[in-house]
Amino acid sequence: MTDLVLELRNLRKTYNAGCVNEVEVLKGADLRLKRGEVVALIAPSGAGKSTLLHVAGLLDQASSGEVVLAGEALTGRSDNARTMARRGGIGFVYQFHHLLPEFTALENIILPQLANGTSERAAKARAEDLLERVGVSDRKGHRPAELSGGQQQRVAFCRAMANGPQLLLADEPTGNLDPETADQMFETLMEITRDTGMAALIATHNHELAGKMDRVVKLENGVLTEV
Ligand SMILES: Nc1ncnc2c1ncn2[C@@H]1O[C@H](COP(=O)(O)OP(=O)(O)OP(=O)(O)O)[C@@H](O)[C@H]1O
Ligand SMILES: [Mg+2]
Repeated sequence: MTDLVLELRNLRKTYNAGCVNEVEVLKGADLRLKRGEVVALIAPSGAGKSTLLHVAGLLDQASSGEVVLAGEALTGRSDNARTMARRGGIGFVYQFHHLLPEFTALENIILPQLANGTSERAAKARAEDLLERVGVSDRKGHRPAELSGGQQQRVAFCRAMANGPQLLLADEPTGNLDPETADQMFETLMEITRDTGMAALIATHNHELAGKMDRVVKLENGVLTEV
C-alpha cells in the first residue's frame, strides 16, 4: 500500500510532433502527490496546465514518461485499463465545464455513479448532498444552459467528486466564481479531502487560493518546480 496517489515521472508532451507547427509543452515534468495533499498548480496562460492535467488524468497520452496512479503504472496500458482506472480513481474538473447539455445538474452527477455501479437511490442521495454542500441544490432540476457560469462550475465540481475519487484534478475550478463562492467551494474541497484522504492538484490563477493549499508547484518551460 503506497501513500503516493499520483506520480508523474519525466513527462513529455509534444503536439504535432515532426510538423512545422510542433509545440513541445512538457519537457520532463515530475510530481509526487501524497494522500490528503492539496497542491496548487500555477503557470501563465499557455504554459501547459491543461495539458499536464489531461495527461495526469489519463484523458490524453504523454509523448513519453510515466503516469503512476496509486502505484500502478498506466503508460502504454490499453484504453480499457486506463478508462477503468480513471472512472474508479480520478475526478476531473475541466476548464470549460463539459457538463452533458441534455441532462439536469442532478443527472450530471448521478450518471457517472451509475456507470461505476452505484444504485440509483444512493447515487441520487449523494448527488443531492454534494449540490447542497456547494449551494446549488435549488438549481438541481436545471440543465447546464440554464445555469450561470459559476453554478455550472460548481455542478462540474460535484460531478468530479461523485464517485469519491482518490485523486481530484481540477483545471481552474474557481475561474468563474466570486471570491466568497470560490472560498466556499475550496472549503468543501478541503472538508472532503480531510474526510477521505483524497489528494488534489488544482490549476489556478488565483494566488490567494493557491496560498491556502498545502504546496504550490509552478509549471515553467515544461518542467514543474516547487514554489
Ligand atoms: N491539441 C493541441 N494541438 C496543438 N497545440 C496545442 C494543443 N493543445 C494545446 N496546445 C498548445 O500547448 C500549449 C499549452 O496549452 P495548455 O492549454 O495546456 O495551456 P494552459 O496552461 O492550460 O493555458 P490557459 O491558462 O490559457 O488555460 C499552448 O501553447 C497551446 O497552444
Ligand atoms: Mg488551461
